[in-house]
Amino acid sequence: MIKEFDFDKLLDENNLSSDEKIFFLTIINNIYSHPEFQKRLDNKIYPHHSTISLGNHILSDAIVAYKLALSSKYGPLNLKLIILIAMFHDLYELPWQNSGIIKSRTQNRHGFTHPIEAAINAITWFPEYFQNEEEAIILIDGIIHHMYPFPVRSLKKGFHDAELNNPEKINSLPTNLKNIIISSSSRKTILKVSFSKSRYNEGRIVAKADKIVALRKEKPNFNSYRASITGKNLDLLKKN
Ligand SMILES: [Fe+2]
Ligand SMILES: [Fe+2]
Repeated sequence: MIKEFDFDKLLDENNLSSDEKIFFLTIINNIYSHPEFQKRLDNKIYPHHSTISLGNHILSDAIVAYKLALSSKYGPLNLKLIILIAMFHDLYELPWQNSGIIKSRTQNRHGFTHPIEAAINAITWFPEYFQNEEEAIILIDGIIHHMYPFPVRSLKKGFHDAELNNPEKINSLPTNLKNIIISSSSRKTILKVSFSKSRYNEGRIVAKADKIVALRKEKPNFNSYRASITGKNLDLLKKN
């Protein structure tokens, strides 16, 4: 049985006070109501780790990252940027599980390239959040390295051989933001992937929240982990 999305339940499960709820909802409102985000709340179109929608996963990450930040000993943190990184981190282009998309090189498979697609889509759909370059650097670096310790595709040699699912958007990105994506993904490159964590605490908290949500709440099994490399999720095939 596929779970229905219940936003209120998600907020209550994480014990947000009414002030925290208001702050959180104010930050996410524009992104949440965007048609591209709404589409990702449908678990029949965008399933994530078998049972919940991609949108549900993104919101869970954003709430957990926010709560982690509130109780964190990391020092001063920008709560707005943490919530935004989480809202953008998995906005990749296509539902990839069992889609039949074939990538010719291992380093271009979903697990490695989806953070880059997410950064491109976030800038394309929500350019207003990337106007301030100092904030844009923190946002992009957090999105690109959210999978840490799992590596991300390095763009040291450029976008052309990364087999992204949204290449048509790359030319329309502002040059400074395109360069931030390239330089961020190129740190600590070994064999075409970057093993770097985010340079900023805001990004590191989102990477931590992503693991907490995946392991504690979504409980992915062997098949869903394997799907991030192979693109095939046997559990979803059984359900459909
Ligand atoms: Fe991800
Ligand atoms: Fe995620």
